[in-house]
Amino acid sequence: MPLTVILAECGLELIPEEIINNPAIQKNIKKESYPSKLLDNALHHSAMGKLNDVTKRGRPDIAHLCLLNALGSPLSKSGNLKLFIHTLNNKIYEINTEIKIARNYNRFKGLMAKLLIEDKIKTSDILLISRIKKNLSELLKSIRSEEIILFSSKGKLVKNHFEVFDTNLTKNYVVIVGCFQKGFFSDEILSLSKKIVSISYYPLDAWVALSKVIGYYEISNDII
Ligand SMILES: C[S@@+](CC[C@H](N)C(=O)[O-])C[C@H]1O[C@@H](n2cnc3c(N)ncnc32)[C@H](O)[C@@H]1O
Repeated sequence: MPLTVILAECGLELIPEEIINNPAIQKNIKKESYPSKLLDNALHHSAMGKLNDVTKRGRPDIAHLCLLNALGSPLSKSGNLKLFIHTLNNKIYEINTEIKIARNYNRFKGLMAKLLIEDKIKTSDILLISRIKKNLSELLKSIRSEEIILFSSKGKLVKNHFEVFDTNLTKNYVVIVGCFQKGFFSDEILSLSKKIVSISYYPLDAWVALSKVIGYYEISNDII
C-alpha cells in the first residue's frame, strides 16, 4: 500500500478581496502575473493584520518546501506516495507524483495561483494536479484508510519508526501533517483521528516533521 500524505491547512490562497485595495497589495500585484495574485505573508504582511486566522495564512513557502521534500523522497520515486494538499479554505488537490515542482519559489507561486484559479494543472496529456471536490472526511472514506495518524508536537511522543508504522506495506495509512507556521490543527482536522503522534521533543518546522515521517515509513518498509 502506498502511504497517503495530506498536507493540511496549507496557507495557499489568492489575495482576498477584502484587502485587495490595500497599498501593500497594490504595490506588487500585476494583472498578467500569476505569482503576484497569491497571498504571501513576506510581501503582504502589513495588509494582512485584520484577516481571520492570520498566523496560518499567506505561507506558500511552507507548501513549497513540503512538496519538494515529499516529491523528492525515495518514497515518491519508488511509486509509494499518494499526495494531497488541503488548504485553509478547505480545497483539496491531488498531486500526481510525476510532477516536477518548480525549485524557483516565484515560479512555484505562479503554479499555485494558476491552480487556485483553474482548479487543475495539466500538460497536453497528463493531469498533474487536480481538484478533489470532497471534504476531508469524504476523502478519507474514499481512500479506505485503515489508520489515520495526525502528527503534532502535542501528540504522544514516539521514539522509533516501528512505534508508528507496520512493515511490508501491508496497511493503508494516511498521515496528516500541518502545513502552517504557528498554531495547531483546527477542530475539523482533530475530529478525523484520535491517534495523534509527536516525533520529537521539539516543535518542528512542517517540512522537517514531514521528512521525518516519510523517513520512518521508508525505514519500516525497506524503501531506500
Ligand atoms: C510548524 S508546525 C505547527 C506548529 C505547532 N506548534 C506544532 O508544533 O505542531 C507544522 C506541522 O509540523 C508537524 N510537527 C511539528 N512538530 C512536530 C512534532 N514534534 N511531532 C510531530 N509533528 C510535528 C505538525 O504536523 C504540525 O502541524
